[in-house]
Amino acid sequence: KKKGFIFDLDGVIVDTAKYHYLAWKKLANELGFEFTEEQNEMFKGVSRKRCLEILLDIGGIEATQKEFDTWMIEKNEDYLEYIEKMDASEILPDVPKVLEYLKAKKVPIALGSASKNAKPILEKVGLLPYFDNIVDGNSVSKAKPDPEVFLIAADKLGVMPKDCFVFEDAVAGIQAANNAEMTSIGIGDSDILAEADYNFKDFTEIDLDFIKKLLQLK
Ligand code: G6P
Ligand code: MG
Repeated sequence: KKKGFIFDLDGVIVDTAKYHYLAWKKLANELGFEFTEEQNEMFKGVSRKRCLEILLDIGGIEATQKEFDTWMIEKNEDYLEYIEKMDASEILPDVPKVLEYLKAKKVPIALGSASKNAKPILEKVGLLPYFDNIVDGNSVSKAKPDPEVFLIAADKLGVMPKDCFVFEDAVAGIQAANNAEMTSIGIGDSDILAEADYNFKDFTEIDLDFIKKLLQLK
């Protein structure tokens, strides 16, 4: 049966969480409060709008619609300054090894991300050519754990959801994959990502035999 692979972006392919953090922290500080790296964990896999809502909750700030919109733009402009400087050195270890293998086997590959900056980031690090389809924050309306992003990706790849494998680093992302009835592969802390079908600390732990085994599943 035809199989498909879907990759989350932030935290799976590149470590952009640190840039999101710096941009959110700058905004928080400007608004007069602290924002810690620990709190930033809650932002993983979460849309920009929802992140700002949580941030303002942390700071106890009630924003007007106009302020809210301004801060959304400001945060993204700061984030884009970091993205601008990204290159292939920021690809997480051994990610290209797996992409290369899938390409060689002619397995379709999609990106499934909440980010509206997904395409420029893939372009910057030089991985865009590996992806047959990009489903990102510009094309989905329901956030993970809703399965929408992955179901659209499967549809675009022309693969049945149950024959798709999803790499994710966020709890909401694993839940989205499970809700789509796909096979979920957690990248990160296996205690946090306990709901995943498989767990790996990072791609250096993924053996190509494992990918081969997945491709051979009924
Ligand atoms: C990913 C990240 C989140 C981020 C979201 C939106 O899911 O893990 O931390 O908030 O994308 O990113 P964007 O680039 O559209 O602000
Ligand atoms: Mg992620």
